Amino acid sequence: MKKFSSEFLLGAATAAHQVEGSNTNSDFWAMENVTGSMFKEPSGDSVDHFNRYKEDIGLMANAGLNAYRFTIEWARVQPAKDIFDDNAIRHYREMLEYCRAKGVEPIVTMHHFTSPKWLIYEGGWENESTADYFAAYCSCVVKELGHLMRYVCTINEANMGLQLVKLVKDMMAKLGDVQTGIDMNALMAERMKPMTVAFPGADPGKIHHFLSPRTPEGDLVIARAHEKARDAMKAVRPELQIGITLSLHDFQPQPGCEAIAHAEWDEEFLHYLPHLEKDDFIGVQNYSRRIIGKDGGLPPPEGAELTQMGYEYYPEAIGNVVRTVSKSWKKPIIITENGLSMDDDSRRVEFIKRALKGVQSCIDDGIDVRGYMYWSLLDNFEWMLGYEKTFGLIAVDRTTQTRTPKESLTVLGGYRG
Ligand code: BGC
Repeated sequence: MKKFSSEFLLGAATAAHQVEGSNTNSDFWAMENVTGSMFKEPSGDSVDHFNRYKEDIGLMANAGLNAYRFTIEWARVQPAKDIFDDNAIRHYREMLEYCRAKGVEPIVTMHHFTSPKWLIYEGGWENESTADYFAAYCSCVVKELGHLMRYVCTINEANMGLQLVKLVKDMMAKLGDVQTGIDMNALMAERMKPMTVAFPGADPGKIHHFLSPRTPEGDLVIARAHEKARDAMKAVRPELQIGITLSLHDFQPQPGCEAIAHAEWDEEFLHYLPHLEKDDFIGVQNYSRRIIGKDGGLPPPEGAELTQMGYEYYPEAIGNVVRTVSKSWKKPIIITENGLSMDDDSRRVEFIKRALKGVQSCIDDGIDVRGYMYWSLLDNFEWMLGYEKTFGLIAVDRTTQTRTPKESLTVLGGYRG
């Protein structure tokens, strides 16, 4: 097995809301805890990473990992519009210090899907003022904690809202095909009812959390939020290495479908590039490939092995995506997420080995890949799907919060140079 160089950042990722527990001032908490919620179950106390982070960081460090990507949760740091919470800052200071004490480089994400509930009342992610609020929050964090940070991801999967639009359109088209007679407007109004309870007093048509399907104007708000946050953090600490993260598919066009694949790649990646010119790195996140036919994305090939998420098991995708990104991105690349959900850990071990082979071949060809973060360090809260998906390198029994490292954790750590 070929190891990475000693400077290579080899680690795992989490997101605050998915692991910490009790993120009570966030918009997602509100949406999870209403009758008729679209969430399978609420996040509750999650896997209690807020209190158990030392154990978790200790396990990764012992296995040989030298980097940890995690979120500083906006809803904790700024639970109300005019309150910056010292206790939350203290918590994240201790966490950053603990990483450093364990020889683990923190890669901090400033926004990973969840926002403070108050932001939704201000118009959320379709409102220009969000870019300024976000920049102010980032600047405050960096003033307090920037001396302990080196790598910062502004926004996780900034392109997710556009991808959701595509998903919803596909679903509507299918529903229309098979269930004619359904009044889609009435159906949507029904789906919005819990939202009016989660955000009382807000106009139901204007509740824009981060995973709401996004308009082109909303997409620009996100891009500007990234730019303003980056510039605000750089103004405080110019030495920080700052980038965005994007969810990117390995598009594989069938013959004759290259232009369709290119249009998808443009929407998913290329059109953001003008907003990233002053960035220091880009965070690449990938889970599978997408075969493109004449009508767009095709389902996985007949007989393909699927993960619990229904994605094709396809570890080669990450190397392919990095190569495609590198054609138009000449600065450092950090793989900020790559992984799979499967109970059989031997399939994860195999996935990691094949994925890393692809990454190493990119590096051998001169592509500047600085790190690889497996998603995820822990089995955790997979958003609307709740707790049954197992992405983790470490299993968690949520009745006792007992951690059990999987073989895949050891295997990943073994690649450390
Ligand atoms: C997100 C994670 C999520 C993972 C697996 C990524 O899109 O950043 O929060 O858990 O995929 O679905």
